[in-house]
Amino acid sequence: MRKLWIDTDCGSDDAVALIMALKSDEVQIEGITTVCGNVPLDLATKNTLMTLEVTNKEMPPVYVGASKPLAKDLITAVNVHGQDGMGDCDLIHPTIGPEKRHAVEAILDIVKKNPDEIEIVTIGPVTNIALAIMKSPKTMSKVKRIYSMGTAGFGRGNTTAVSEFNVYVDAEAYSIMLNSGIPITIIGFDVCLGDAALNKEDMEMLLNSGVKEAVFSVQCNKSLLDYNLKRSGEHIVDLPDAVAMGVVLWDDIMTDRVDCYCYTCIHEEKAYGQVILDDGAVLAVSDGFVSNEPNAVVCKSIDNDLFKNRMFELLLK
Ligand code: RIB
Ligand code: CA
Repeated sequence: MRKLWIDTDCGSDDAVALIMALKSDEVQIEGITTVCGNVPLDLATKNTLMTLEVTNKEMPPVYVGASKPLAKDLITAVNVHGQDGMGDCDLIHPTIGPEKRHAVEAILDIVKKNPDEIEIVTIGPVTNIALAIMKSPKTMSKVKRIYSMGTAGFGRGNTTAVSEFNVYVDAEAYSIMLNSGIPITIIGFDVCLGDAALNKEDMEMLLNSGVKEAVFSVQCNKSLLDYNLKRSGEHIVDLPDAVAMGVVLWDDIMTDRVDCYCYTCIHEEKAYGQVILDDGAVLAVSDGFVSNEPNAVVCKSIDNDLFKNRMFELLLK
């Protein structure tokens, strides 16, 4: 059985990813760590705990992590996910609490005890991961693989024109992770759009199912729906973290992928959080990266129908 560790800034799309992993029979969740991002840390933790309670499957331990990025002040996405990060629908009343240990200690401990077996899924800023790498690079070199929902992929940013939110919150951390030597698979924002997003019919089907996790998955994304309706008039809910979890659970939904040398911009203010993906394509002149070996596999496309059908199977189970 695969051993997963999930690091999350639990906003509403994270919640769907957590439910998918909890309900999957193909993986064992060894633990969950929370990090500031979509919402401040305390809300990310409360939202994670509530999602576990709603799913009432086997409860993995939850450990609280970084309350601020490595270098910058926290920028949240409450304008997208709601003040509580979960649609502001009064859904969040957890009765369970987190463990006492700090997230970074918990991550280092589980990796030490399970060398080359732990697959870490990051669906928020990677501050906890960077802290663990800085604290014990030797231990973290024993992580089997990191699957990261992060970067704009080969598309435009969602936070600045060039930067995706999970990287923008803590680009220094993302750079540390990319330079760690740990095998990494990146699912960028670009593959989470279009038909990968929930449409009106999908949401109605899930709401009408009466299955509590399916209903919760739509209700907690109300703010995200309102944000999309206001921004583009589209009745859709894009779920980047659920897409990333789909790639983790089902490698065969990835229809194209490429090895890249990925460089995180942290110095130039206007490019802060951009991740330049160099796929080694021949260029007329050197792009300055030619000597760098690939440091991540980047997902270029997924089979949207396969992803959605399998996600629905889990949410409705
Ligand atoms: O850019 C999308 C990512 O940022 C998702 O993980 C979302 O939950 C936010 O954390
Ligand atoms: Ca997230």
